[in-house]
Amino acid sequence: MTDQQPTDAPLHGLRPRRTRRTPALRAFVRETSLDVSQLIHPLFIVEGTGVKKPIETMPGHAQLSVDQLEEELREILPLGIRSVLLFGIPSRKDAAGAGAWDPQGPVPKAIRELKRLAPGLLVIADVCLCEYTAHGHCGIVHDQSGVVDNDATLPLLGRTAVAYAAAGADIVAPSAMMDGQVAAIRSALDVAGFLDTPILSYAAKHASAFYGPFRGAAESTPAFGDRRAYQMDPANARETLVEVQLDVDEGADLLMVKPAGSALDIIRQVRDAFPHPLVAYQVSGEYAMLKAASQRGWLDERRAAIESLVAIRRSGADQVITYYAKEVARWLSTAE
Ligand code: PBG
Repeated sequence: MTDQQPTDAPLHGLRPRRTRRTPALRAFVRETSLDVSQLIHPLFIVEGTGVKKPIETMPGHAQLSVDQLEEELREILPLGIRSVLLFGIPSRKDAAGAGAWDPQGPVPKAIRELKRLAPGLLVIADVCLCEYTAHGHCGIVHDQSGVVDNDATLPLLGRTAVAYAAAGADIVAPSAMMDGQVAAIRSALDVAGFLDTPILSYAAKHASAFYGPFRGAAESTPAFGDRRAYQMDPANARETLVEVQLDVDEGADLLMVKPAGSALDIIRQVRDAFPHPLVAYQVSGEYAMLKAASQRGWLDERRAAIESLVAIRRSGADQVITYYAKEVARWLSTAE
């Protein structure tokens, strides 16, 4: 006689909880990975020497002069961070943003220094004029209306991309949201002999309130008007696919969606529609929200930050630009 099973419990119940019971089981069935090799670390480069000026709205980040990069590398390389995204903040700004393509400007200098010190580090240079124009718009404006002259801006973006490629950038990443910018940059690079420099296009970039802290950090808040006539309406998703398709047709090698947390559906749609490597940008406002709530003790920072990044990866991003790169790299290497 065999023992009878208790009859009051289901014998073949569907119990997804079975695979959640232990850390080993949870790790075994986890669908989405988060690894330091998937994180891109943004850096803000200023002119001068000995500058490490903390950015108040982005705790843990500072504007750095080029001589500070050695120390920064000593911190990020042992953490396993393999890629950085550079933004420049010039000491002088003008109407055309000429500092953007100055070979002695902060970004080309930083690229050369990073490549000298760490040739294997992947250096991505953001290509835009807003940090370099006195009015803070991403291109040429002729009056206070804030209307950017799209076609007059294109050759300037091309020159800027060439300056960064010449300095040794591995990838150039146009973020100005001018129509035709990828094609203009591709032909400028090709003419200058940089046929092998890839373009990471900010293909879907919303006119987002979440860029606020960045504009303080990069000193690029528009002096008048806003960016809604060139950046995309966050209410639109189908239009994203039009924008991305154009960038692909113009020769984008890699695609970006920005911001990330408020556009997870957009990341998924781009992932499903295009086979290209896909980067998502967890922007300054997303970071600032997590930081501010954590500082008040309202969130468990480690868990909230990792959850937000896993969600971005789960939506389909291969790589994530995040101001949390250093902290997350540390957290991932230590058990909770
Ligand atoms: C430049 C640029 C911006 C950001 C990245 N590149 C600012 C903007 O478009 O206004 C924002 C990044 C962030 O908020 O972290 N155009």
